[in-house]
Amino acid sequence: MPNEQLNAHLEFFGELGVDGVRRDGDWCTRIEPEPTPAAPIAPDALVADPAPIAPLAPSGNSAAGALTAIAVLNTIRVDIGPDCSRCKLHTLGRKQVVFGVGNPDADLMFVGEAPGADEDIQGEPFVGRAGQLLTRIIEAIDLKREDVYIANVIKCRPPGNRNPEPDEVEQCEPFLFRQIDAIRPKVIVALGKFAAQCLLKTDAPITRIRGREFAYRDAILIPTYHPAYLLRNPSAKRDVWEDMKRVRALLAKSG
Ligand code: URA
Ligand code: URA
Repeated sequence: MPNEQLNAHLEFFGELGVDGVRRDGDWCTRIEPEPTPAAPIAPDALVADPAPIAPLAPSGNSAAGALTAIAVLNTIRVDIGPDCSRCKLHTLGRKQVVFGVGNPDADLMFVGEAPGADEDIQGEPFVGRAGQLLTRIIEAIDLKREDVYIANVIKCRPPGNRNPEPDEVEQCEPFLFRQIDAIRPKVIVALGKFAAQCLLKTDAPITRIRGREFAYRDAILIPTYHPAYLLRNPSAKRDVWEDMKRVRALLAKSG
């Protein structure tokens, strides 16, 4: 591995709370497979929205923009209602609707799949183990959790953390799209296969769409691995770090 890449990798692991590496034989002999290089970003990567990437209006960052976003988000929250019954999840043991959290004027938005048990109890996305890892991933590019906005495709916990079903997605995803339009982020990170496939309306495997960027509404969408997947497959953190460096560069470029 080139030195620069190794350093970035170790720095990311440091940010994720790993403060040492083992010096025993296991560490030395464990050979990671070389990752296949990410496909170059070709114009045909822009599958979701063939329109050119339009610069955001300056109001996106103004106090007025933030006030508007707060008002629109509140309207969406009211429209969903405190006890939404549009799909069957309200009969399947969920405690509450988990709307979304963070800066209504965020340049960066994360989209996950659906609340888990911790999120269902606390009413906030990504507060369990995967959520704590997400917070450290955000901090790895020198942002705070409060700087970004975090939401899920599905607002209610599916029983036993099963995958959301098509009728549930159909009822719930319009609220996510309205949240995105209210916040108008510059970059959207889709966390895991489910969110990426839902936003991009594709059934391409996550391994094929990550490492690329897509024009999506007024934003650039970066699919990456879900933090819950990283908990089971720590070696995939290297790819997520590459994706987050790309996110950081896109945010810097867009001012
Ligand atoms: N996984 C998700 O996709 N979303 C959450 O809010 C928590 C875990
Ligand atoms: N499979 C998934 O569903 N999500 C990931 O993030 C990686 C593999």
